[in-house]
Amino acid sequence: MSFTAPIQLPGLTLDPQWYRRSVFYEVMVRSFVDSNGDGAGDLQGLIGKLDYLQWLGIDALWLPPFYNSPLKDGGYDVSDFRSILPEFGTLDEFKDLVTKAHERNMRIVIDYPLNHTSDQHDWFQQSRSDPTGPFGDYYVWRDNDEEYANIRIIFVDTEESNWTFDSVRRQFFFHRFFSHQPDLNFENAGVREAVFDTVRYWMDLGVDGIRLDAIPYLFESEAGNGEGEPETHDFIKELREMVDRNYPGRILIAEANQWPREVAAFFGTDEEPECHMAFDFPVMPRIFYALRSQHAGELISVLSETLDIPKGAGWGVFLRNHDELTLEMVSEEYRQAMYGWYAYDPRMRSNIGIRRRLAPLLDNSRAELELVHALLFSLPGSPFLYYGDEIGMGDNIWLPDRDSSRTPMQWTPDRNAGFSTADPGKLFLPVVQSLVYHYNLINVESQLAQSRSLLHWVRNVIHVRKAHPTFGLGEITVLPTSHESVLAFVRSYAGSGTQFGDSPENVLCVFSFAHNPVSATIDLADFAGSSTWDLFGGAEFPTVSEEGVLTVTLGTQSFYWLHLGTPSGVGGRP
Ligand code: BGC
Repeated sequence: MSFTAPIQLPGLTLDPQWYRRSVFYEVMVRSFVDSNGDGAGDLQGLIGKLDYLQWLGIDALWLPPFYNSPLKDGGYDVSDFRSILPEFGTLDEFKDLVTKAHERNMRIVIDYPLNHTSDQHDWFQQSRSDPTGPFGDYYVWRDNDEEYANIRIIFVDTEESNWTFDSVRRQFFFHRFFSHQPDLNFENAGVREAVFDTVRYWMDLGVDGIRLDAIPYLFESEAGNGEGEPETHDFIKELREMVDRNYPGRILIAEANQWPREVAAFFGTDEEPECHMAFDFPVMPRIFYALRSQHAGELISVLSETLDIPKGAGWGVFLRNHDELTLEMVSEEYRQAMYGWYAYDPRMRSNIGIRRRLAPLLDNSRAELELVHALLFSLPGSPFLYYGDEIGMGDNIWLPDRDSSRTPMQWTPDRNAGFSTADPGKLFLPVVQSLVYHYNLINVESQLAQSRSLLHWVRNVIHVRKAHPTFGLGEITVLPTSHESVLAFVRSYAGSGTQFGDSPENVLCVFSFAHNPVSATIDLADFAGSSTWDLFGGAEFPTVSEEGVLTVTLGTQSFYWLHLGTPSGVGGRP
């Protein structure tokens, strides 16, 4: 495969706010490419696909944990935070990955499950066998399981309590996730220092950012619910201060599956910042809700909510990731509706969520896939793609837990989808061979060969987005429309660096969730008399009336991105 050179956006390399203009791609090392035929993906395999990712327009990779681990929770159960799982490669290969990514102007963000360890971690082994030793207090030990009764259980499918009795120490230890993942005791200064050291270790190796896994849960209290306790925020502030001081330009990303205001709290304030980015858990399920309810209202209210976030803070918007599509932070009524639409087979459910990939969720509808990607790429924040979704990969709900959507990447129609040369029976997970999503049909090679494939479409929309800094850096104003299925907003950026020169850029984004064509009027009072131009092809569209109203007609589940004003040159294609 050969790929054309990427466009170099001016200023990206040195831009301290690179993360606000970046397109991120979550790649599970184990699932991407197997370079040595042992049946599991590895770092060398990923290095070999950097050209592909660069061609796609990816600016930053997020790598879920690749450390030593018994792999009972996809690697989020870490037994040594400083080593690479031998199956994935070596530290030298990791350094090579960082170097080769940087050569392509691509950043590397790693994942750090700092809240807990595997029970195989040496700290835990020492803690359970030597309560008065140096690691005796590294975990949350109690004589009974009565404390923190207010703290909810997250993995409701498998865990009955947040406490598990350890027969060696003859005490209970606390865990927010699986009972093989004991929570670290953040009250202990040694634990906090060890976390700082781990962050320094990886930043010294050149990583550009760290996803702080399960960040709300560091501290517990009897009065609170163990989610975003004040001590947790204080700790993140100190960590941010250290990172800014020693590693300017590197970022921290919060994985906080919380209600909107609580997620926003992980950005901190202008004076006391916490994370540079936070995943937008509030917006994600509402996108799926809008698709099936044909109502834009839920999205409109969450996007209109003004959350005071510090300058430079950025949302990480996403449709899917390696976890279930979580429905924890929505009302019961809403949750039941989502289950009815998207998880009609109980096998599709996991914990409080849905363990399916994007394309099967949307019934492989090309219109819906385009609509949700257009939303993803125009909402405030930076988009995070999940590997394989760019070709509309399917899932396998007969696999346990979240493995359903962690199957090998489908590169070609050849053996093991081109993922590995191993005996097919040896693969860590089978490749998808279902009727609709079989790797014979859905793979990178065949989509490269079809100019109208989803892959080419996604690549094009990424490049159009990247030609307009407004999407990454601009403000959002949600606009009233006359149709309940239509969402409209303007993204505005007053800075420079756009293809329209130094003048402010305003882009009108309109989406219809209706299952039939509709016509709607949009209230554009601030843009009365403006001309409108399609960002993709450059065609001129109707002008906003002198009264500030624009009438649009939209095909079934379709969208527009329209430049507002009179451009000197239009067209988003690179
Ligand atoms: C990760 C999950 C993991 C959990 C426990 C999360 O939030 O995204 O995949 O199971 O943390 O580490």
